Amino acid sequence: NNYVAIMAGGVGSRFWPMSKTSYPKQFLDILNTGKTLIQSTYDRYTSFIPEENIFVVTSEEYVSIVREQLPMLPAENIVAEPQRKNTAACVAYISFKLQKINPNANMIVAPSDHLIGDLDLFTQTCQKALDYTSSSYSFVTLGIKPTHPNTGYGYIQYDENKSSEGIFQVNRFTEKPDLSTAREFLSEGNYLWNSGIFIWKAEDIIDSFWEHSQYIYDLFKDIEADLNTEKEAEAIRKVYEVCPSTSIDYAIMEKANNVFLIPSDFSWNDLGTWNSAWENFSKDEEMNASNSNSTILVDSKGCLVHSNEQKLMVIGGLEDLIIVNTPEALLICKKENEQQIKEYVAKVRKVK
Ligand code: GDD
Ligand code: MG
Repeated sequence: NNYVAIMAGGVGSRFWPMSKTSYPKQFLDILNTGKTLIQSTYDRYTSFIPEENIFVVTSEEYVSIVREQLPMLPAENIVAEPQRKNTAACVAYISFKLQKINPNANMIVAPSDHLIGDLDLFTQTCQKALDYTSSSYSFVTLGIKPTHPNTGYGYIQYDENKSSEGIFQVNRFTEKPDLSTAREFLSEGNYLWNSGIFIWKAEDIIDSFWEHSQYIYDLFKDIEADLNTEKEAEAIRKVYEVCPSTSIDYAIMEKANNVFLIPSDFSWNDLGTWNSAWENFSKDEEMNASNSNSTILVDSKGCLVHSNEQKLMVIGGLEDLIIVNTPEALLICKKENEQQIKEYVAKVRKVK
């Protein structure tokens, strides 16, 4: 009864200009591992989830990229969204579909943009979560020990005294707090980062949409009969036209009171921003990470340089900058402004 739904429809705008709407970061091999992020994500689950139960939910426009990168996926396991409506719609769609395929479907919802180490530990953690949700009305999150007040993550406050076999009850889920709140959370101590990986039964998350996000529930409930038939694409197109754009974190996780947490020790990195990539790149003595043979750094510290261009680039006397050079665009900004890259991209879209 176990399934995985890989969410791969984001545009990765904080990774611009390397990640772009026409070819977002989940389809790139950002750290030069030999596999793209979505390929590594897929591989992570094949040891314990039957391959026919692995689904990818993505935008219509990325279906051909998914086919190319995961040729072993059966066509019906690639679920295409006609518009980008963020992760609440994506989760509702795949949950209604899976529930119809298998009323006992128990599922892992997985982002496609993560780096995860210690695969054995990761597998054990997922299995423990799946066992738990298979027999209880609960949503299990995997919590990561925070290292700094990152405002790009969800924060999960849990009750250290209420656990059964290493699965803790969650008091509060706060999505992307502002910096001062994130700092408070860190000093309080009993907060972990939300890894973005969720485990639940399809039936249960559907019930939770009914409870906390009735509008989205109704939209999908109304077309349930068409799902997994030839009428699906047309019905879904209509649903997506009116479906609100919001994330599962805001729509459900912040509101649900049946949330649990497994504090997780596998190594985890959300390749969400240039800084997270910088942390993973190899660096010189001055903590510069550069992938470019045609770039010379002089008296510069802590810079991230990413360029596949041949043109010689000299960077002198600069500190803590992100410099990304692609054929279409050149980005130069302070590392501390990495969360704002999203806004820069919105501006670019306006002028272009
Ligand atoms: N199918 C589909 N459709 N997938 C989507 C869509 C969509 O409209 N929007 C985003 N995704 C995919 C992305 O490709 C990514 O793999 C995953 O869903 C999560 O979306 P992000 O946009 O990367 O979310 P985030 O990183 O800002 O925040 C989430 O992940 C953090 C950890 O990485 C939240 O769950 C946070 O709470 C969490 O800390
Ligand atoms: Mg992300």
